[in-house]
Amino acid sequence: MTILLVILGLHLCSLHLPAISAAADTLSPGQSIAGDDRLVSSNGKFALGFFNTGSKSSGNDTLSYWYLGIWFNKVPNKTHVWIANRGSPVTDATSSHLTISPDGNLAIVSRADSSIVWSSQANITSNNTVAVLLDTGNLVLQSSSNSSHILWESFDHPTDVFLPSAKIGLNKITGLNRRIFSRRDLVDQSPSVYSMEFGPKGGYQLVWNSSVEYWSSGEWNGRYFSRIPEMVVKSPHYTPFIFQIEYVNNDQEVYFTYRIHDETIPLYTVLEVTGQRKALAWLNDTQGWQAVFTHPNDQCEVAATCGPFTICNDNTFPSCSCMEGFSIESPDSWELGDRTGGCRRNIPLDCVSSRSDIFNAVPATRLPYNAHAVESVTTAGECESICLGKCSCTAYSFGNYNGCSIWHGKLVNVKQQTDDSTSANGETLHIRLAARELQARKSNKGLVVGVVVSASLSALGILTLVLLLIMIRRHRKKLHCQALNSIYAGTGVIPFRYSDLQRATKNFSEQIGAGGFGSVFKGLLNGSTAIAVKRLVSYCQVEKQFRAEVSSIGVIHHTNLVKLIGFSCKGDERLLVYEYMSNGSLDTHLFRSNNSVTLNWSTRYQIALGVARGLAYLHESCRDCIIHCDIKPQNILLDDLFVPKIADFGMAKLLGRDFSRVMTTARGTIGYLAPEWFSGVAVTPKVDVYAYGMVLLEIISGKMNSHRESNSYADHIVCFPLEVAHKLLEGDVLSLVDGKLNGDVNVEEAERACKLACWCIQENELDRPTMGKVVQILEGLLELDLPPMPRLLQSIVQSSWKTETQH
Ligand SMILES: *[C@@H]1O[C@H](CO)[C@@H](O)[C@H](O)[C@H]1NC(C)=O
Ligand SMILES: *[C@@H]1O[C@H](CO)[C@@H](O)[C@H](O)[C@H]1NC(C)=O
Ligand SMILES: *[C@@H]1O[C@H](CO)[C@@H](O)[C@H](O)[C@H]1NC(C)=O
Ligand SMILES: *[C@@H]1O[C@H](CO)[C@@H](O)[C@H](O)[C@H]1NC(C)=O
Ligand SMILES: *[C@@H]1O[C@H](CO)[C@@H](O)[C@H](O)[C@H]1NC(C)=O
Ligand SMILES: *[C@@H]1O[C@H](CO)[C@@H](O)[C@H](O)[C@H]1NC(C)=O
Ligand SMILES: *[C@@H]1O[C@H](CO)[C@@H](O)[C@H](O)[C@H]1NC(C)=O
Repeated sequence: MTILLVILGLHLCSLHLPAISAAADTLSPGQSIAGDDRLVSSNGKFALGFFNTGSKSSGNDTLSYWYLGIWFNKVPNKTHVWIANRGSPVTDATSSHLTISPDGNLAIVSRADSSIVWSSQANITSNNTVAVLLDTGNLVLQSSSNSSHILWESFDHPTDVFLPSAKIGLNKITGLNRRIFSRRDLVDQSPSVYSMEFGPKGGYQLVWNSSVEYWSSGEWNGRYFSRIPEMVVKSPHYTPFIFQIEYVNNDQEVYFTYRIHDETIPLYTVLEVTGQRKALAWLNDTQGWQAVFTHPNDQCEVAATCGPFTICNDNTFPSCSCMEGFSIESPDSWELGDRTGGCRRNIPLDCVSSRSDIFNAVPATRLPYNAHAVESVTTAGECESICLGKCSCTAYSFGNYNGCSIWHGKLVNVKQQTDDSTSANGETLHIRLAARELQARKSNKGLVVGVVVSASLSALGILTLVLLLIMIRRHRKKLHCQALNSIYAGTGVIPFRYSDLQRATKNFSEQIGAGGFGSVFKGLLNGSTAIAVKRLVSYCQVEKQFRAEVSSIGVIHHTNLVKLIGFSCKGDERLLVYEYMSNGSLDTHLFRSNNSVTLNWSTRYQIALGVARGLAYLHESCRDCIIHCDIKPQNILLDDLFVPKIADFGMAKLLGRDFSRVMTTARGTIGYLAPEWFSGVAVTPKVDVYAYGMVLLEIISGKMNSHRESNSYADHIVCFPLEVAHKLLEGDVLSLVDGKLNGDVNVEEAERACKLACWCIQENELDRPTMGKVVQILEGLLELDLPPMPRLLQSIVQSSWKTETQH
C-alpha cells in the first residue's frame, strides 16, 4: 500500500467540514464527503461515495478495504465503475473524507493526521475549483467561474472499467495514455497484470505484463474494428444495445469511444480479474448483469490466466488447475480470483546431488511461453537428458517438426487441448518432478484411506441429521413420494443407481466426447445395450427440480431426437443416460472426412430434413415449447443408418441460469448464435432457426462457416454465408456445394437449401421462417423467394467484398 504522505497546513486539522447535502452532484470548497454521504449525478444514474469491497487477512490482521469511487446508483448490487484510491484503500468510511484541498485539487484526507491518501494532482493555478459528477459517470474538477474550464477528469484516469463516452487512447500532446488495468482480486482493487490499451496498429489490445498481446480488436476500417463487426449491427427490431463506436485520430489525440442507444440502461465494459474483457448490461427482468460480449471468449486464450505451473482447460469449471506434483501457492488469493502466484512444487527438485528427477508427460497441450529451442537434437531421449543436465530446466518437449524445446523457470500459459473440434491437437509437455514425487503419490493411498474414514465418519453425522429431518418431516414424505411416482409413471425415464452407471461405464473410462456441459462416456447396460452417459459438470441445482426437469424432458420422443433413457444424481454428480449413436456427431463427417466416408448429397439432404423435423417437433408439437439454444454440428448425432438425432435438447431448461455460462465457455458455439443473444432481449425459437441456417450452410459446403485460427484471436467473422448470399444473387449455386461431392448433386435441392439457409440467418427474427415452414420448404411443399441479404453481412460486404474477391 503506497500512501501519499503529504502533511497539510495545521489549520485544516481541526476543521470539521460540513457534509454534502443529499443528492447534490457538486462538491464545492469547504464541503466534504465521508461515511454515507454521496454525490449523485443529475440524471440519477451514478453516485459517488465510500464503499467497501470486503476484507482480507494480512499477517495477523484482517484488513477491510474501503474505497472512494463511483457506482451505478440504481443497480441494487453496488457495482463500481471508478475508484480514486485504488492503490491506497482506507480502513473504514469515516476515517477519511473527500474534499477540495487548499491547492484546488480533489483529495482524500485522513482525519487522524490530515495526511493525503489520494489527490487528483492536477496542475492547478487557482484554488477556485468545484467537482461535479456528470451524467456520464465522469467526475470533473472544473473552475467554479467557468464550467468549460476542466482541470482534471476521472475519465482520464480510468481503473478497470471503460464506460460509454469515456476514451481509450493517447493524448499526443501531453502523452497521457488512457488505458485500463484489471484489479488484483475481488477485494483488492489495485492494478494487476492485464491491461487494455490503444495499440500501434490502430485498434485496441488486451495485454499481459505490459508486453504480451493476447487479443486484438483488429484495425479500424472506417466503421468498426475488423475483428468485431457484430458491434455495429443495426436493426431496430432486436437490440436496445446499439453500440455507436467513434474513432478519432487527429493532431492532438487518437482514441476510441462508444455510446449506446438507450442511455437509461446501465452498461459498462470491464477488464476482469481473469483477463477477459466483458460488456455487461443490467437487466430489470432478471435483476442481474448480462454479458453482452466477452473478449476473448475462452478463458484459456488469456495469457497466463492461471499463473505459473498450472494447466488451463476451457472444458472444465473452474478452468484452472495445478500441474501434477504442484499445489496452489496461495489458496486465499486463488479463492479471490488472483492466480498470479499460480502453483508451487510439492517436493523440490533434486538436481545437484543425484540426477534422479523424473518427467511427467502431459499430452495435447499448448506449450508454455519462452521456449528455448535446442538445435540438432534428434531423439526425445537426448532432449530429456539435456534438460536433466541443467538445474534450471523445468520441462522439455520433443516434436517431429519442432525438434527439442526446453524451458527454464516458471511454466506459464499451458493449456489442455481437449476440444476435438480444433485441428491443433497440441504437443506433449514433459514436466520435471522430483523422483520422490512418485513415492509420495504411492503413499498418498494411505492418506486417501484416512480421508475416506474421516469422511465417512462425518457422513455418519450427516446421516443422523438426515434421519432426524426425515423423522420430522415424516408426514410430508408420503406426499413427496407420490409426487415423484406420478412424475415417473408413463415417462419411462429410469432413475439409475450411481454405482450401476459407474459399472456400466467401467468407472467412466471410455470417454467419447467432451463439451461445455461435461464429458460423455460410453457404457454397456447389462453387458449388451450400448449407452452414452453424460456426466454434467457439477451444477448447483436443486435435486427435486433436476428430477422434475429430467422427467419432463424424458417424455419427449421423436425419431430425430436422441432418446433420454435415464438419469442419476448422487451428491453433486448429475448423470444423464442416452441411447448410443454409433456414427458419432455430424461435425466429424462434415469437416474431418479423412477418417470417414464423405456424406453424399442425398444423405446430407435427409440429415438437413431430419434435423429440421426434430426442431419443429421441439418448437411446435410437444407440450411446452422447448428452445434448444445450442444447435451445432457437434450436437447432431447420427445413428447406424445416418438418421440424424438432435442431442442436448432441454439443457437450457435443465441448467437454467448456468446455461449461459456453459454456452460462453463452450468452444465454437459462437458461430451459431443469433444476434439476439448479444442484445439481452428474451430469446425465442427463432434463435434455433438461425443456428439451423448456419448448420445448413455447413452441410451444403462441408466447410466451417467461421474459422477459428489456432492463435489467440476469438475470431468469428462469418465468411461463407457472405459468399452464399452473393452466389445466390449471381445464380451460381453449384460452386457453393462441397467440392468433395464432385458435382454429384441435385441442383434443385441445393438451390432450395441455399436460399433457405439465407432466410434462416436473417438478423430480424421476424424475417426467419419457423421450423415448421423450414420442413415444408425442404419437402418441396412451399416455394421460396430469393432472400434479402442479411444486413450485417451486407454491411461487411460493402466494405470488404471487393477486396475479398480479388484474392
Ligand atoms: C503476529 O502474531 C505473533 C504472535 O502473536 C507475533 O509474534 C508477531 O509479531 C505478529 N506479527 C505481526 C506482523 O504483527
Ligand atoms: C485561495 O486563493 C485566494 C486568492 O486567489 C486566497 O485569498 C485564498 O487564501 C486561497 N485559499 C486557500 C485555502 O489557499
Ligand atoms: C504546470 O503549469 C505551469 C504553468 O502553466 C507549467 O509551467 C508547468 O510546466 C506545468 N507543470 C506540469 C507538470 O504540467
Ligand atoms: C472558459 O474556459 C474555456 C476553456 O478553458 C475557455 O476557452 C473560455 O474562454 C473560458 N471562458 C471565459 C468566459 O473565461
Ligand atoms: C514481465 O515483463 C517483464 C518486463 O517486461 C519481464 O522482465 C518479465 O520476465 C515478464 N514476466 C514474465 C513471466 O514473462
Ligand atoms: C428498470 O428499472 C428502473 C427502476 O425501477 C427504471 O427506472 C427503469 O426505467 C427500468 N428500465 C427499463 C429499461 O425498463
Ligand atoms: C446481488 O446481491 C445479492 C445479495 O448480496 C446476491 O445474492 C446476488 O447474487 C447479487 N446479484 C448479482 C447479479 O451479483
